[in-house]
Amino acid sequence: MKQTWKPGNMLYPLPVVLVSTRGLDGKDNLITVAWAGTVCTNPPMLSISVKKIRYSYQALHDTGVFVVNLTTKALVKATDYCGVRSGRDEDKWERLKLTKEEADLVPVSMVGESPVNIECRVVEEKELGSHVMFLAEVVNVHVDDRYMDEKGRFCLEKAEPIVYSHGVYFNLDQKLGTFGYSVKKPEVKKPDAKKPDAKKPDSSKSGYKKPRKKIRKTQF
Ligand SMILES: Cc1cc2nc3c(=O)[nH]c(=O)nc-3n(C[C@H](O)[C@H](O)[C@H](O)COP(=O)(O)O)c2cc1C
Repeated sequence: MKQTWKPGNMLYPLPVVLVSTRGLDGKDNLITVAWAGTVCTNPPMLSISVKKIRYSYQALHDTGVFVVNLTTKALVKATDYCGVRSGRDEDKWERLKLTKEEADLVPVSMVGESPVNIECRVVEEKELGSHVMFLAEVVNVHVDDRYMDEKGRFCLEKAEPIVYSHGVYFNLDQKLGTFGYSVKKPEVKKPDAKKPDAKKPDSSKSGYKKPRKKIRKTQF
């Protein structure tokens, strides 16, 4: 039986990201944000929602720029720390010994240890209630080439990304499928061409079908 709960946020799991900011005073800060998401493919846009009482809010409001740094298993402690300590009281960068890399298009430090850094420019600030949503355009993206494979695919899973689900951080341990796999025809193994007796299969007898064209990964 299902229980009925009062309205609340139960859209989980979520990405949990480290958002870096630089205030007008030049001070770099990091804030952990789970209320974040992709909102548009073209132009590429995302949103983060931040409470006005956060120290980071002022920098976001004043400068209209920030960087979203993706988090990993190796960064999980830092991610939690940046979500429970304020830049008002301490320099979280210094405390966590994170590597600063200057972003290209926005005057903000990026987390060097993060596999992906997304430079953002705010296009709208919208007061929603408890949180203020910053709707932002993605202006530049950095990906760590350690996670590129020989075919040029960016294997983010190799960086061990994490998610946040109802108060708990998890990693993504198991691959369950790939985009479009539910409608993909099973691939029939081709005979080994090197073997002398390898014959082209007779499709009328064996039911061999030419594998369908690969389904292209589309963007939503
Ligand atoms: C997992 C996690 C997710 C969080 N998500 C948000 C969020 O989406 N928006 C927000 O305003 N605060 C969020 N917080 C709280 C802030 O990260 C926290 O208050 C932080 O200390 C603010 O830092 P600052 O004062 O340096 O800006 C989250 C904290 C944690 C631990």
